[in-house]
Parts: sequence; C-alpha cells; structure tokens
Amino acid sequence: MTTDSIFILSCDDGSVEQALAEVRAAAPDAFVLEMLADGVLLVDARLPFATLAAQWRRTPPIFVRHVAPVQVVAPLGGHTGDPAYLARTLPGVLPALEPGLSFSVQTRVLADVPYKPFDINTALASALTTESGPPLDVRAPVQVVSVACAVLKHWQAEPQLMIGGTTPGKGKRLAALAGVSLAADNLSNWAGGMRRFAREEGQISRAEFKLLEAIEVFGIEMPAHGVALDLGAAPGGWTRVLRRAGQYVTAVDPGDLDARLNGDPGVRHRRMTAEQYLHSDPDSFDIIVNDMRMDARDSARVMAAYAKLLYPHGWALMTVKLPEQDRQPVLDQTFAILRAQYTIAGARQLFHNRSEITLFLKPKRHGN
Ligand SMILES: C[S@@+](CC[C@H](N)C(=O)[O-])C[C@H]1O[C@@H](n2cnc3c(N)ncnc32)[C@H](O)[C@@H]1O
Repeated sequence: MTTDSIFILSCDDGSVEQALAEVRAAAPDAFVLEMLADGVLLVDARLPFATLAAQWRRTPPIFVRHVAPVQVVAPLGGHTGDPAYLARTLPGVLPALEPGLSFSVQTRVLADVPYKPFDINTALASALTTESGPPLDVRAPVQVVSVACAVLKHWQAEPQLMIGGTTPGKGKRLAALAGVSLAADNLSNWAGGMRRFAREEGQISRAEFKLLEAIEVFGIEMPAHGVALDLGAAPGGWTRVLRRAGQYVTAVDPGDLDARLNGDPGVRHRRMTAEQYLHSDPDSFDIIVNDMRMDARDSARVMAAYAKLLYPHGWALMTVKLPEQDRQPVLDQTFAILRAQYTIAGARQLFHNRSEITLFLKPKRHGN
C-alpha cells in the first residue's frame, strides 16, 4: 500500500470535471476519496505524489490550480487548542524540512472552527523555526508545509498516516491533513492557488487582478517603455496595469474608458471593435493583450489576424471564455487556430479567472 499518493487538489468549482480529466491523464488509476469543499478534492493518485508533480512540471495542467500532498492526518477537537496541538505534534511526524531552503506554512480551514488559517500558520511556523533550521519566507517559499482542516465524512485514513496510528471511528470527523512539498510541485506558491492582491487606490476594475496574476504565474517581463495593444480594454483596468508598468497603450473598445484615463497622454483610445481597428492601418506592438467578451474561437481568429502586428520579441496574453458545455472541443479548436500563428507558452485557469482560462502566447517565427 502506498501512503505517498494522497493529495488535495484545488480547482475552480466549475472545472472539477476538467481537473479530474487532467489528473487521470497523468495518473490513470487515480480516484477521488472525498470532496472536502467546493473545488477542493481529496484524491488518491495511486502513484507517488512526486511522480505526478514531476509530470506536471514538464507539462503543467490548465485546470488543476493547486495540489498538496497528505502525509499525516491529525484528528482535531474543533476548539481553540487545535493550533497549539498541531504545533506540538506535526514537527515530529512530518518529513523533515531541508534546513537550507526557505519554507512557509499554508493552512486552509474548510470547516466551521473557532480559529483561522493565520493561527495555525503562525503557531506551526514558529515551532518549525530553529536557529539552524530553514528560514521562513511567506511570499516565495521553496518548501511548503500544507495543512487543511476539514471534516472527513467517508475516508478512513490508513493507520500509518494517522497521528497516534489509530483510525478514528466512522461518522463525521474533523482532521488536519498535512504534508511537506516543494512549492514548485504544488503548481502555485499560494495556499490552494488562491493568489489574492490588495485593492489599490485608483483601481479601475477587478479584471486588473487577472492581469497581475497572469504576469506573475507566467513569469512575464515587460519591456522598458514598450508599446502595448489592449483589445477589449473598457473600462480600462488592464490599460491601467500596463501604464503602471511603463507601457504606452492603444486601448481598443467600442465602450467608454474610465474617466481617470482620459488625461493620460500614454493612452490612446480607439473607440471601435478589434476587427475594425485591424483594418485601420494599425502600428506594430511589443505586447498584445485581449480580454474581449467573445466566443473563444472568434477571439482566437482575431488574435491570429493580429499576429503580424506583434514584433518577433513580443508576447500576447488573452483570456479564453469557456462555454457551459462541450468545453474540450471548443478549447481544442481555439488552440488549433492560435497555433497557426503562436506558440502557446502557458495556459492556466487562474484564481481570478471565472468561466475562462488565460493563455500566454509567443509569436511563431515563420520561415525558419
Ligand atoms: C471583460 S471586459 C474587459 C475588461 C478590461 N480588461 C478591464 O480590465 O477593464 C470585455 C470588453 O470586451 C469588449 N469587446 C467585446 N467585443 C469586442 C470587440 N469585437 N472588439 C473590441 N472590444 C470588444 C467589451 O466592450 C468589453 O468592454
């Protein structure tokens, strides 16, 4: 029996089917042990977590947003003593952290208990921090101790996973599911892949978070004083993010831009559709972004037509709206249209994506 094959998977709660298909493509015998919450599943991969993680390092999934191994299960009382209890017991039973690599504790509380993730994060991190031990780095840890507090309704953990070695009786049981892994194996540096940004003064739209997250996830670098094209720009959140990164922006949208962008000489509003702008003798660009509300395949056709305006060193980013049903054929067609002109350098359903995914594109070099 393996005990290194159980993990917690997080995805958008509308994409569970797609996420499980990605798990099964990498681990054909995988099965779901329990739904812990909306979009949070306990899964047995039936192969070591490290093997699955290595596969996904090479070809990352689109819909699985975050994974974390479960190596220890600790029954909890559901009272304020739980964080201190976990800080006392987990360090002795979890796999040892590498002393030279930074770490962070990432807790998710998926049950009704009188404490917050922060309480467990701080108690456990201080118990794991010793003079010769690993340094704490909450923002960009190399290793992560993941803890999920959840009610188990069905799953009986193998005795070797349980603290104390005993399996509690049937019925609803509150437990902490914990494991240690490299952040790079978890598919995201953030607990459950939930990358939250603070609201900023002057923020124009919530869509800004989507662009900020994409820049981080795909490791995108902005050119110094580049020229950017923002298709479907209104009300102008993405334009604002690009301006703050020093780009000159052509914002194309039949709709109004937020009044706060009006006086900015670095923003040029073309009040028309992307299709119309293409026929108005447009410039060339270092960056093309597209957040148009449009059928995925139509949007891909627009992007394919715009590829000739992207400098060879440039990049493009687009959101792809997913239909309610038959998502896979629509995605396959969308990817095929784009691949004629672009290399798909990244594809993820981000935390800030709802019924959509985000693609990072590089122009294909034709003729060589
Ligand atoms: C989700 S909003 C974009 C939000 C924007 N990224 C922001 O941060 O404020 C989608 C926009 O796509 C625009 N749109 C839809 N079809 C378009 C087309 N054919 N050409 C240009 N814009 C289009 C809509 O007018 C709408 O403003």
